[in-house]
Amino acid sequence: MQSKQIIIAIDGFSSCGKSTVAKQVARILGYNYIDTGAMYRAITLFCLRNELIENQKVREDELINRLDDIHIEFRFNAELQRSETILNGENVEEEIRQLPVSENVSQVSTIGEVRKKMVRLQQEMGSKKGIVMDGRDIGTVVFPNAELKIFMTASPRVRAQRRYDELMGKGQEVSLDEIISNIEMRDHIDQTREESPLRRADDALILDNSHLTHEEQLQWVIDRVNKALENENCH
Ligand code: DC
Repeated sequence: MQSKQIIIAIDGFSSCGKSTVAKQVARILGYNYIDTGAMYRAITLFCLRNELIENQKVREDELINRLDDIHIEFRFNAELQRSETILNGENVEEEIRQLPVSENVSQVSTIGEVRKKMVRLQQEMGSKKGIVMDGRDIGTVVFPNAELKIFMTASPRVRAQRRYDELMGKGQEVSLDEIISNIEMRDHIDQTREESPLRRADDALILDNSHLTHEEQLQWVIDRVNKALENENCH
């Protein structure tokens, strides 16, 4: 009997390793992986390029007027074995990870019209199930009926150190203090914004990975996936 396909929603704080685990789980299951943070980052890049952000303030009305000019999709790069973010036909996978985008993305993602458009797109992407989607509001807003919801967390210091190592590894000069304050600022905005604030869905399982290795986390998630699949296949 062919196994039923499910939706796996992974939410949590910035830089706590959601995407690494989500990608691995998707690969193991043969599911699609969708990085919803990349979608908000792509819109932020569009704003920066079109002078819709000044001193970290978004020209909200102008952005809303131009939302129909923004097309976001993912394309699989077979050579690098990864899914890449495409903004209006251009591959922006690298550029959306840089500090100018990170510094402004929280502000852009507080805008209700932006979220409405992204949520609609995400729901379409997951309409056939068989996806692992990570973000902030996947288990609460995008797929409140997801068969498996995981809420990931780790201490700000641990997250900052990981992000620092990652950026230094890519040859980018950054200071740890700068990263800690960026993470704390994003946590604050993500949790206190009016539109779909970051919060754990009541039925989400908590994974605090401050002191877990990659392998331990992956195993933890795979065990829960297997249980969720067993449940689905029994019904
Ligand atoms: O996961 P990330 O750090 O790449 O996300 C970038 C920003 O996008 C983050 O500050 C919060 C926002 N975001 C959101 O509001 N809702 C989502 N589903 C995903 C990300």
